[in-house]
Amino acid sequence: MAIALAVLLACCASAAVAQFENGISFSEGSTNAAKPTQSAATTFIVNQQNCRCVLIGTCAFNGNNGIDIRIVNVGTTPSPCQTGYQSCCTPPTSQPSTVPPADTTCGIRKIPVTRQPVVGQASFGAYPWQAALLTKAGENYLGSGVLMDATHVVTAAHKVAAYANNPEAMLVRLGDWNGRASTEPYQPVSVNVARVVLHPNFNSVNLDNDVAVIRLNGVVPIASYPNINTACKPTAAVVANQRCYVSGWGKNAFAPNGQYQAIMREVDVPIIDQASCEARLRQTRLGPNFVLNRNSFICAGGESGKDACTGDGGSPLVCQTNTGQWQVVGLVAWGIGCANTNVPGVYTNFWNFLPWINAAITTA
Ligand code: ARG
Repeated sequence: MAIALAVLLACCASAAVAQFENGISFSEGSTNAAKPTQSAATTFIVNQQNCRCVLIGTCAFNGNNGIDIRIVNVGTTPSPCQTGYQSCCTPPTSQPSTVPPADTTCGIRKIPVTRQPVVGQASFGAYPWQAALLTKAGENYLGSGVLMDATHVVTAAHKVAAYANNPEAMLVRLGDWNGRASTEPYQPVSVNVARVVLHPNFNSVNLDNDVAVIRLNGVVPIASYPNINTACKPTAAVVANQRCYVSGWGKNAFAPNGQYQAIMREVDVPIIDQASCEARLRQTRLGPNFVLNRNSFICAGGESGKDACTGDGGSPLVCQTNTGQWQVVGLVAWGIGCANTNVPGVYTNFWNFLPWINAAITTA
């Protein structure tokens, strides 16, 4: 993370300088003679203020005889203004927005993805928001979740319902990849659990409202671990037909010989609209009267050999947005078998539960 952040800062600092230089048509090392003639039209931005060069003593945005507290020293050497001129600034006219700025750090891979020797194996650090849920005694794998901030993981309620009253019996591990060996360049971090908040309407029979918020008993050191990051929250309901990714350590087949995976796996799955999903699930043993709870679930997959499976419960289904960031849109909930043609996997509808998740995060 330290390296990535340094790169980011280097990038943005130089971009800002370039913009600044553009704005004032002025380049470093230029002499007075080379400076352009000042004109009222030459505006530039300093500290989010709009500035221009004016004759000394004529900066009068306040109508107070040229003495304006908003005159700023732009701090450049040499001054962006010619001799005899001063910079005169006024704050931008737009009011500060009440909408919080989007989190620019969530949903980013801090370790470049490399080609894997095994098809379906995730590249180390490709899903830095993936949380492994373990029993504290024996560190047995329970399921997965997704890191939303430094102290909260969201998962499927069916994976942690048994721990709602004894959260101290659980452990959350972040930044892991090979669950059975410590071969990774960066080690995972294990954190105790302070609280498990189940959705109040979670139904353990049909998995309606299958969502829970885990409050960690410690702060995940996101910034110092390249293999750990948060996922972004969705910003809109998921759009059908796009390809998204699900990751996890669940079984590689539904059949009795299916095996839990040591190294994290990934698979791309298309989002299936709810009507088609319901129609396809009616073709399974669920039968023609099956009704998909559209508040609770979204679907993805239905392609042969590509699906989440037993043990992947609570794993995030993530889609990449046009900013390059990954948003969590679903949590592995259930399926009919695994990876059969035309039988999509069913995921908790993260977008629909976002208000509840946000509230639980603030209060948990
Ligand atoms: N209920 C399973 C678990 O919690 C997940 C099953 C997902 N199945 C599927 N075909 N996508 O591990």
